[in-house]
Amino acid sequence: APIRITLDTLKTCTQGLVAQTNITTSCCPAPDINLDVPVVDFIPKRDRINGHRVRKALQCLSGEELETYTQKLTKAYDIMRALPAGDPRSLLQQQRIHCAYGSGAFIQDDLSAADNYTIDVHSNWLFLPWHRMFVYFHERILQKLLDDPTFALHFWNFDNSLDGTKSNGVEGKGEGCFKPGHFFPDIYNNNSTSTFEPVRSPRTLIPNITVDLTIVAGVPQANIPVRFANDSAPGNRKAMHDAMQSGTIPRDFFGVPFKYGDARLFPLAGAGSLEFQPHNSWHRWIGGLTRFPSTATADPIFNPAHANIERLWDVWMKMGDNRKLQPTDPDWLDVEFLFWDENQVLRRIKIRDILSISDLGYSFEKVYDESWMDFVA
Ligand code: C2O
Repeated sequence: APIRITLDTLKTCTQGLVAQTNITTSCCPAPDINLDVPVVDFIPKRDRINGHRVRKALQCLSGEELETYTQKLTKAYDIMRALPAGDPRSLLQQQRIHCAYGSGAFIQDDLSAADNYTIDVHSNWLFLPWHRMFVYFHERILQKLLDDPTFALHFWNFDNSLDGTKSNGVEGKGEGCFKPGHFFPDIYNNNSTSTFEPVRSPRTLIPNITVDLTIVAGVPQANIPVRFANDSAPGNRKAMHDAMQSGTIPRDFFGVPFKYGDARLFPLAGAGSLEFQPHNSWHRWIGGLTRFPSTATADPIFNPAHANIERLWDVWMKMGDNRKLQPTDPDWLDVEFLFWDENQVLRRIKIRDILSISDLGYSFEKVYDESWMDFVA
């Protein structure tokens, strides 16, 4: 049977355990949030209220557009950081919900936490859909706080290491964004604004150093090398190529099945290729709060980075290869998650309803993916 998060799941929430650190954590919504509330189904195709939005590549914003976007984004996080703990839209509660879903704090229906029948949205096939919907509702909350239904959360195009080898002469031509995106986005690096997070690795502050998508588990933070574009681009392109092109069955890309009655795995294994690398790699590279599920969503960079993961899922679906099939198992399609929406209403979504981003009401600006698309080792 599919995993189903219900009001009961939220009410029976218990201490979580962060797999990476073996430290217990408390991040349940109650008692700060009142759980004696109705749950309202959310079916994007039927219920979406906002017009179509385009999420753009952060590295290609400039001039007035960049200024306006920066202003709005920082204003939204000013407000979100100041909301009280009882408001599920507060940054604190946005942190806790990812923590609860990602640390085993939620117990599978009537099964037992002691036997490890808890829920995890990492390292299995829940990863892509859950994170899509987290970012989706987060974006709706930002819109609401700004009172601007047209606001779109742009993406950090970390996979784009357009370094001149393929792109000579392309820049500025055609449609879309033609700039490398593998630097830490400036908008999140201004220490006087609310999108900044002081505990990130100092790597993110060094001008011109690039994200390293080759980092794997077990590399101590201190040993992660500082890399510049020339150095990092081939490794990043290979990591991207492998994540996007090497799978032969859906499970390679989506991760292993995780169903009702499956025990949560320790140590975590079973991630799909996009989650395993580049996703886990940039989490480690940024460091700080983003390293652990218990705190990751407290750093605003989480959202544009995950918007890009989402975009890559969409790119992958359109790659036109018949290996690129989504799971058809009802135990995936009928999974139910709960999220608070922009009006603090608890909404129930089903994976089968959120598989099309056009149903959800947005698309992504076109970027130059070719740097990894046809990478040859
Ligand atoms: Cu729930 Cu990038 O992680």
